[in-house]
Amino acid sequence: MIAGVRLIIIGRQGAGKGTQCQRMSRHYVVPHISTGDMLRAAVREGTTLGREAKAVIEAGSLVGDEIMIELVRGRLDQDDARTRGYILDGFPRTVIQAEALDVMTERHPIHAVIDLDVPRDLVIDRISARRTCRDCGTNYQARGAERHPWICDQCGGDVVQRDDDTREAVTRRLDLYESQTAPLLEYYASRDRLTVVDGRGTPDQVFHSLTAAIESARGSQ
Ligand code: AP5
Ligand code: MG
Repeated sequence: MIAGVRLIIIGRQGAGKGTQCQRMSRHYVVPHISTGDMLRAAVREGTTLGREAKAVIEAGSLVGDEIMIELVRGRLDQDDARTRGYILDGFPRTVIQAEALDVMTERHPIHAVIDLDVPRDLVIDRISARRTCRDCGTNYQARGAERHPWICDQCGGDVVQRDDDTREAVTRRLDLYESQTAPLLEYYASRDRLTVVDGRGTPDQVFHSLTAAIESARGSQ
């Protein structure tokens, strides 16, 4: 195990970013910084940010770059991220966010940028079965035989379907991925910083591919 890692995970909605980042955050002992989780927490708490972001998230659109950049800047400035590192899940999501992140991380650059690659038809299947703990964000797959209310094994919170997992919002999110986020792959590849990991296996297989890719990216620096 190597502590002190700084990572970015990019991938389609439903690729398994959140699922894998939770596990990697325990493995590398670094915070999992999910901008989606941060926004959902703000919505739940009814903060100004949450009130502004609620409708945008539910429609499957993107929150403005400036708001997101300031949110992440503040989070990366906290002690745990500064001293131990972090795994960024869901940020950057546009080239403007990536450029801002390059400036923020100039003194302590990112060790690896991973594209967790899962084709569109498979992520649609995964998202339609996804249920998520409202409190800690742990993901589950619904198989139709669950007891209700569904209680999270990890924290005892309510396990529910996310408000943005409707068919319309998922289609919009996936379309926005192609137009706004996929260009990031070229952004990082052209700077020789991108590693593509196949996200189609079981969660265990994908986890092993991810850690192998991260060790190899760190080793080559
Ligand atoms: P966010 O929360 O980041 O959502 P997302 O990008 O749509 O990604 P998902 O969380 O849907 O997918 P995931 O890859 O994490 O998959 P998961 O692990 O859950 O963002 C939400 C919204 O916030 C955005 O739409 C936007 O409005 C806003 N936002 C956030 N960041 C922003 C930014 N930077 N700029 C602007 N706006 C921003 O896995 C999916 C399912 O599959 C789960 O049920 C899981 O159990 C299952 N699964 C996982 N791995 C496997 C496997 N290997 N095999 C089988 N099943 C699996
Ligand atoms: Mg997620």
